[in-house]
Amino acid sequence: MNLAGDGIDRVKSAADLVQIVGEHVRLRKSGSNFIGLCPFHSEKTPSFHVHVERQFFYCFGCHAKGDVIHFVEKMEGLTFADALRWLGERYGIPIDSRSRSSERKAGERRTLLEIQDKAGRYFRRELAGGGARLARRYLEARGLTPEIQERFGIGYAPRRSDGLLQELRDRYSLDQLRLSGLIQRNERDSRHFDRFRGRVMFPIWNEAGKIVGFGGRALGEEQPKYLNSPETSLYGKSRTLYALNLARESIRRQGRSVLVEGYLDCIALHQAGIENAAAVCGTSLTEDQVRLLGRFTKKVVVNFDPDEAGDSATLRSLALLLQGGFGVRVLALPDRLDPDAYIRRHGAAAYRQLLERAPSDFEYLLARAREKYPLETIEGKVAAIEELLPYLARVSNRIEREEKTRRLAEYFQVEETAVRAELHKAAGGGPRKLELGRSRKPSLGPAERQLIKVILDLDREAGEIVEQLERSQVHVGMESEVVFSAMVALYRKEGRVEAERLRESLPGAREQNWISEAVFEEVDQQQVDGCLEWLARKKVEDEVARLQRQIVQADRAEDFELVASLVSKKTKLILSIAG
Ligand code: UTP
Ligand code: MN
Repeated sequence: MNLAGDGIDRVKSAADLVQIVGEHVRLRKSGSNFIGLCPFHSEKTPSFHVHVERQFFYCFGCHAKGDVIHFVEKMEGLTFADALRWLGERYGIPIDSRSRSSERKAGERRTLLEIQDKAGRYFRRELAGGGARLARRYLEARGLTPEIQERFGIGYAPRRSDGLLQELRDRYSLDQLRLSGLIQRNERDSRHFDRFRGRVMFPIWNEAGKIVGFGGRALGEEQPKYLNSPETSLYGKSRTLYALNLARESIRRQGRSVLVEGYLDCIALHQAGIENAAAVCGTSLTEDQVRLLGRFTKKVVVNFDPDEAGDSATLRSLALLLQGGFGVRVLALPDRLDPDAYIRRHGAAAYRQLLERAPSDFEYLLARAREKYPLETIEGKVAAIEELLPYLARVSNRIEREEKTRRLAEYFQVEETAVRAELHKAAGGGPRKLELGRSRKPSLGPAERQLIKVILDLDREAGEIVEQLERSQVHVGMESEVVFSAMVALYRKEGRVEAERLRESLPGAREQNWISEAVFEEVDQQQVDGCLEWLARKKVEDEVARLQRQIVQADRAEDFELVASLVSKKTKLILSIAG
């Protein structure tokens, strides 16, 4: 069978191998790669490597290797074609497997790439020509050197309405030209004309360096300021990062990237020697773009435009990046300047300094909350903290979360326990003031995973701990209750707790995944008491959170007697777990 090269390429650039593998294998980072236990042969020490940038896996034990399609093929036991379809479905990419139409599509894609490439050359030539004096003056006024203009393939679309059309019409059909998005048809008189006229042209490449579309800037105040290629089979603004092809080498070398909004901002950074910059153009950051960037680095500094409406868009971008597992820092330039304007006014060195000092996402959010709310009032503090809780709740590393909780309490000068209690509440769901992107499925805490692992290891010996669970009921009301209940039931029925049987007995894929997760925990028996204690503690903290809410309410209602009695209850509870 001959599958559409188009479909294969699109699946490969949409799919994240680390994520797909991560659903079957517990991976840990090792340098720029990930390693874990090979799912294709049995082993005790990990020899399964996932190469992030190349999107390739290799097992040093059994020599299994390949790309994301091969992985799914082997893992799910599918043919190549079905694995491709499986991935296509998952990432919303239509896969046409009928071979003739596939070949036709691959051919179409080649033709469309060729048209973009020819258009790029045409625009470059025009920029050098007699009709482009204004455009050249414009680029010079914006401080772009000839070298950078060449590196970014900048060109000019002349004012006449059929320059590109005349250039290409002998070689390509009007249908093909229309599909390229560069030529349009006037519906009234059916005449064809160039989409881009009288504009400075910025080619947009895919990450492999092929031109897939263009952005064209007006020379003056005409609207729109930027006209972009329409969505085509080659180009979609939400799945492209501008200049990623030019930045990827530097991103890999530095292990991080800078993300800006806009063609000229990105170009200005490259000209200033900051070559790990890529740009989101004409859209707010999308999941596709996060995944794409994630193939090259998981560290990013975002330097988005500081506009009024853009604030919540920036927060959504942060949430998406965090969800994608990125370490994020935020650079907010002073005086509402965009990167290009800042560099022109203050120079590249000044920009670099700010970039180096860009605060972490968390420090940025703290500062932002301080500006937004009146912290001298209780309500202001509560609102500011509430806004940050969903963020904290999403920090999956426990130590990091503790550290940040402490920092938050210190920053707003509140009791740390209160923050912690509110945090548990936020983590458990409920209304959120700030939706930091799509909520992630709650995962188990480390203590819960460890306890599950311990019981699984004990297997036939699990009697004592099963009894402890039953007696203390410590698991009741926890996210993981269903798992522990199933373990107790299994032990009562079969006299042992065996991982595969436990998995089978659980109701949903989510719970079953917890078991797979837990199996990879490294624990020893000594930790059992610690785990049980932790569970008990979490329960008390939930109760403290509930009391804290009542205290705030009572305080608002000025019922100080009630406040006093609640506070004393709360203090007792806290003391009960403090020892
Ligand atoms: P900006 O309006 O911030 O422009 O749009 P800019 O990048 O600073 O450009 P200059 O300095 O005014 O020339 C940011 C990005 O949003 C997209 C473009 O990708 C632009 O670079 N955009 C903007 C459009 O697609 N269409 C528009 O009409 C405006
Ligand atoms: Mn600008």
